[in-house]
Amino acid sequence: MYYDSRPLMSEGTPAKPADGSGEMLWGFWYPALRSDQVRGRRLRRARLLDVPLVVGRDSSEKPFALRDICPHRAFPLSYGRFDGGLVECAYHGWQFDAHTGQCRHIPSLTSDSTLKYERIYAGSFPCQERDGYIWAFMANAEGRALQATDALPPPPELPTFSPHYRIAHLAADLPCSVDHGIIGLMDPAHGPFVHQAWWWRSRRSIRDKAKQFEPIPNGFRMSPHAPSANSAPYKLLKLITGAPATTTIDFVLPNQRFEQIRAGRYWLSSRTTVTPIRRDLCRLDFVAAWNILPWFPMVSLILHVLGPRFIQQDREVIEKQSLGLQHEDRMMLVDDADRQARWYFELKACYLESQRTGQPMRHPVAGPVTLRWRS
Ligand code: FES
Ligand SMILES: [Fe+2]
Repeated sequence: MYYDSRPLMSEGTPAKPADGSGEMLWGFWYPALRSDQVRGRRLRRARLLDVPLVVGRDSSEKPFALRDICPHRAFPLSYGRFDGGLVECAYHGWQFDAHTGQCRHIPSLTSDSTLKYERIYAGSFPCQERDGYIWAFMANAEGRALQATDALPPPPELPTFSPHYRIAHLAADLPCSVDHGIIGLMDPAHGPFVHQAWWWRSRRSIRDKAKQFEPIPNGFRMSPHAPSANSAPYKLLKLITGAPATTTIDFVLPNQRFEQIRAGRYWLSSRTTVTPIRRDLCRLDFVAAWNILPWFPMVSLILHVLGPRFIQQDREVIEKQSLGLQHEDRMMLVDDADRQARWYFELKACYLESQRTGQPMRHPVAGPVTLRWRS
């Protein structure tokens, strides 16, 4: 067991992270590439959960993702040719259906060969496009076909609240395990130290916070509340919209943080995902949509100037943290400021448990709870 839920942790006792920490979660959609990175007949390489992928689009633009390893002798299929339907390995010319991975042709076979080559498969992953990303469903590392592809849940969708809106994407590589990437995302205590700026917040703006949380399927929600009074952009938002704003923040397994800000008829909706690429590398993808002053670049400016700056600050802090993590993999999760991190590990453990037993997933967050911290 990883964390003691008794007061031990609040006294600063180091805790060994749990079963489940360090593990990557199978059975979910992950964003492999941005939609505009995959064009025409070009084959693109990607990596998810340490699985090499070759991603492309068929002649009707539908995306596909194959394991980038030829079943014949492991040559990366991404070096091969693609005609819009079949991927041809560049080593001995075996051809595979781009969507199912089924072998369709082996050039070296003589006409009297009885080899049932149609029983050979390259690994393949269900693939869909949404919100400007190509998503792959990572059920297992080999890309074994699923029994019922139509029973898959849809890939996550960014909620939007009116027909017209603007949308923007940002991304950054984080040199750490997915766990550190995610708990960095939900950590309220680093803001005044890492994201200091006159227009945002400083150490002097630290104050008591009390936020209400509730369980939601596969995650937890910071219930709708007025955004932090000590941040300038929210003051600006109030000035523009004239309406009081509310923020709702959800975390959902395996890796998604949704934030919605609503003020009267105006809204801004964002999703941040931290996707494991390798064990020691993840990628943060941020997408935001909004209808606040779409003709005036205020929100766009905030996102494109301040967003990268925030993400850069988080990236730098994780780079430096990785120096220490080489020597110490234990962590201390103290009191309410680190409670969300603790819930994350508990959710993960419960998910893995339900995968193991086939039982419905137990939810580690019991009912509404108020967390208090200073930030
Ligand atoms: S390795 Fe791919 S066809 Fe031989
Ligand atoms: Fe941050």
